[in-house]
Amino acid sequence: MDIRSLLVRTHLYGLALKARGLQNVALGKLLSMKDNIRTIGNPGLRALHRRLRAHLARQNRDWPHFKYASGYFYQSLDAIRVSGFRPTDRRFAAYELDRFLALDDEVLDVGANAGFLSLLMARHVRRVDAVDWNPYQVAIGQEVADYLGVSNITFIAVEFQDLAPTKHYDVIASFANHTTVDGGMTENRLRSYFERLWGMLKDRGILLFESHPWDVRDPRFQHTIEGVADLFATIETRRFAGGQTGRGQRLFYAFRKK
Ligand SMILES: C[S@@+](CC[C@H](N)C(=O)[O-])C[C@H]1O[C@@H](n2cnc3c(N)ncnc32)[C@H](O)[C@@H]1O
Repeated sequence: MDIRSLLVRTHLYGLALKARGLQNVALGKLLSMKDNIRTIGNPGLRALHRRLRAHLARQNRDWPHFKYASGYFYQSLDAIRVSGFRPTDRRFAAYELDRFLALDDEVLDVGANAGFLSLLMARHVRRVDAVDWNPYQVAIGQEVADYLGVSNITFIAVEFQDLAPTKHYDVIASFANHTTVDGGMTENRLRSYFERLWGMLKDRGILLFESHPWDVRDPRFQHTIEGVADLFATIETRRFAGGQTGRGQRLFYAFRKK
């Protein structure tokens, strides 16, 4: 390819990204308005939304990294009428997460974001530790847990690489965060990421894993998954069409620690 067509392609790609970014900002504003309407007539919920939006505003002002969902909520949660960019209750149902959870389990949710998936998992287990490096998202999760009266969840604002748990978990959830566009999890750390998860699980513990949409057709991702066969046995692999669990296709894996 000559330099000129390379420049044209780069320019067009930039424009497409810009358009997509603006689209996300517009979508966030639209969903925020929808949430406002969905809370009419419920003063307690409206007050909660105000507190959550204040955390988002602080994040958008002070967090130096990429803001998911253009600074709106990445995760939805039906119980508090937050629309979110990704449908948490629908993801929980599509992946049938309850099949992998038992009442006595201790669960770690890595890169939990606002912990809305963690809150749904908490209904089915003894304890959940929800870890995210973004303190504003962690504050949102804590606020919602208090509002819903969920007490068997601990929110921890820490970079996963610095997490030093004092226990082993029955189940670890790693949803769309083995690599992250905010730069917190990078591809060159992937093998050590899986090794750390392995080390944090109890014997025969379960790793629940969701891909990014772009992983679905990436041979390097397949290579990575095949490369952890020494650590984990695959219980199941499922592929979800775009729309079922949010935008874009996703792969869902349940692994058992070897
Ligand atoms: C794409 S979101 C996925 C969120 C959630 N797991 C889900 O699927 O709904 C990635 C999350 O990983 C978090 N994250 C990125 N790097 C991290 C790190 N080094 N340690 C902990 N969390 C991290 C981000 O703040 C973000 O909330």
